[in-house]
Amino acid sequence: MPVLHGPTLPRTTPTTRRTRRPRATTTLLAGGATVTAALLALTSAPATAAPTTALAGRTGTARAAAPDISVANVKAHLAQLQSIANANGGNRAHGRSGYKASLDYVKGKLDAAGYTTTVQQFTSSGVTGYNLIADWPGGSADHVVFAGSHLDSVTRGPGINDNGSGSAGILEVALTVAREGYKPDKHLRFAWWGAEELGMVGSRNYVNKLPAAERSKIDAYLNFDMIGSPNPGYFVYDDDPKAEQVFKDFYAARKIATEPETEGDGRSDHAPFKDAGVPVGGLFSGAEYSKTAAQAQKWGGTAGQAFDRCYHSACDTSANINDTALDTNSDAIAYAVWTLSSGGTTPPAGTSFENRTPLDIPDAGAAVESPITVTGRPGNAPATLKAGVEIRHSYRGDLVIDLVGPSGRTYRLKPADSGDSAADVVETYTVDASAETANGTWKLRVQDVAAQDEGRLAGWKLTF
Ligand code: TRP
Ligand code: ZN
Ligand code: CA
Repeated sequence: MPVLHGPTLPRTTPTTRRTRRPRATTTLLAGGATVTAALLALTSAPATAAPTTALAGRTGTARAAAPDISVANVKAHLAQLQSIANANGGNRAHGRSGYKASLDYVKGKLDAAGYTTTVQQFTSSGVTGYNLIADWPGGSADHVVFAGSHLDSVTRGPGINDNGSGSAGILEVALTVAREGYKPDKHLRFAWWGAEELGMVGSRNYVNKLPAAERSKIDAYLNFDMIGSPNPGYFVYDDDPKAEQVFKDFYAARKIATEPETEGDGRSDHAPFKDAGVPVGGLFSGAEYSKTAAQAQKWGGTAGQAFDRCYHSACDTSANINDTALDTNSDAIAYAVWTLSSGGTTPPAGTSFENRTPLDIPDAGAAVESPITVTGRPGNAPATLKAGVEIRHSYRGDLVIDLVGPSGRTYRLKPADSGDSAADVVETYTVDASAETANGTWKLRVQDVAAQDEGRLAGWKLTF
């Protein structure tokens, strides 16, 4: 760009130019925040085309602990499902009024809690079926942690253990997410499937309609079909190793033995996901198989009796629930949802997010802004956030530079200084940004406040 000097273009700040004076390296800001500048060539850093995201590796970042799920609340949902069955011919089966009433109950709770809900329709056996999908706004859209349960019963009974239990469990976990204002790194999705009892019709429909690009964003699908069996076992799907380990860690901490669930591979709604290549996991407290002596030894309960004697029967009512199993397994769901949705997308400390799109800075003109969007960084920004700036300019004293945090708060990196006639700003500023969330859109705001010299922002970066 041409560098204009001449008597016909007086500077807007008519201060006489002095020779360059020593530059302060530390500026005290209002509120005590300090910004420290150090020389550093941005170009010496490894260049990346786009802001860095998703790198594996844990940092020392504190994570929100998984909450305890109220079994009383889970049981209250079961009581509602029981009433719905009572009022609708004794069941909540596909194609019957009790199914849609169950879906409306769950949807009402989720809508009130701030979920984005979608009802997906399909046809099975000539009647309309419904899936309910609930998305918790936020989290990385490219990493979805997904928990699902079938909401339909068989026609013979109210289906409180099969599968009011899983449905109520994930509902209460979803409501707890909202109550706690949980901000997971990953995106959370929950689903209540229709027509599972007709052969996973609803979930298969969902998976078939899901574009391949969306399917590949699902980091884990977790299935909960029967989690409160009256003579319970503690079975963990032995599928995706990561999901399986998270559940095993949970039960190990509670000193509860588990067994791998293999028999169910084709028997519930995780099957369509697994068939489509999605990593799957889940829990199961047992159905019609009978508890062995060895299992009764480690889990208590009655050997030689089915895990659920009322499986697919009229007696699968709210009396057909083991509260301890329901409580423990609901907590396990929360633990897995919290654990799998936090971290894993967190870049290690020292990772930079860059914007290398050049931006002209108009001479004595309006401020220009260059954005950097940070994702996968739970918690606040560090007190030593580094903002590396590379500006090519013929008279840098013209420039005022601010960093704008995701909250909109600005941090003055450099004031104008009419006496600073040196060229270029190639510096790394250290900013106490600990009052800001790290995630969000940061901006570098640059304004040239004096006529005659101009330049451009070559690029900038944030290092956490
Ligand atoms: N609804 C399932 C069914 O009727 C229940 C079930 C039985 C199940 N065995 C399972 C679910 C194993 C998961 C894993 O088949
Ligand atoms: Zn079931
Ligand atoms: Ca200028």
